[in-house]
Amino acid sequence: MGVLAGRTALVTGAASGIGLAIARHFAAAGARVVLADRDPSVRDRAAGLGAAATVFDASDEAGVEQGVAEATAALGRIDTLVTSHGILTESPVATMPLATWRQTIEVDLTSVFLLCRAVLPGMIERRDGRIVNVASQLAIKGGVGLAHYAAAKAGVVALTKSLALEVSRHGVLVNAIAPGPIETPLVDGISEEWKAAKRSELPLGRFGTVDEVAPTAVLLASSPGGDLYVGQTLGPNSGDVMP
Ligand SMILES: NC(=O)c1ccc[n+]([C@@H]2O[C@H](COP(=O)([O-])OP(=O)(O)OC[C@H]3O[C@@H](n4cnc5c(N)ncnc54)[C@H](O)[C@@H]3O)[C@@H](O)[C@H]2O)c1
Repeated sequence: MGVLAGRTALVTGAASGIGLAIARHFAAAGARVVLADRDPSVRDRAAGLGAAATVFDASDEAGVEQGVAEATAALGRIDTLVTSHGILTESPVATMPLATWRQTIEVDLTSVFLLCRAVLPGMIERRDGRIVNVASQLAIKGGVGLAHYAAAKAGVVALTKSLALEVSRHGVLVNAIAPGPIETPLVDGISEEWKAAKRSELPLGRFGTVDEVAPTAVLLASSPGGDLYVGQTLGPNSGDVMP
């Protein structure tokens, strides 16, 4: 029996990278999972796991409501929400178009509020729920050309803490994961020079893999392993930040 046997989960960003790995690790731990993404290829990823999929834009209010309703219909109830969708672009503040700022805040932060809000009523009613938001260590350390992304992720950490204070007494535990640099398509666009410089700064001397991040989400979703984590931000980050 896996540590998530009998549990259900909705995982966003599950067409790729960290979200897909979390969906795989959840399924391997015994959870029934719905994989969500705006990329329709999430259906193929889900089929590979024998799981269901839902396709929606996490920054769209109606899309989130519909996606959560579909996932609830497929699973019966959502015990665990993992938000692992996201975008990353580079732009210095001095020349950043307002549209770039707004898009990042909408996709990387507002979407997390929308998803949490959509799953909370059922979790509170059952007095049973886990929410795991994937933030980033850049929420803590900031990044050149990444003010919009870092601000959105800092918002995710603050949302996570505030929501944890609101709902832990109702049986819902809310936490975040702040990974360091992880080899996924999200960082594919970054130059090799930057990546080499970054690797040399890391105490471990290398980027992480998605399979080194996903077990932290399994821990936070599990019981008793995750039972004492409330409003925390765990950092699988190769030692880059030690808050
Ligand atoms: N890779 C890293 O180094 C790293 C480090 C820290 C944090 N993160 C965070 O981890 C999470 C996953 O990133 P990843 O590295 O796996 O990237 P990825 O690009 O491999 O996966 C991100 C997924 O999110 C989906 N997505 C993007 N916008 C969406 C939207 N509006 N609605 C629904 N789905 C959407 C994409 O289609 C994609 O499948 C993100 O929140 C990212 O910010 C990544």
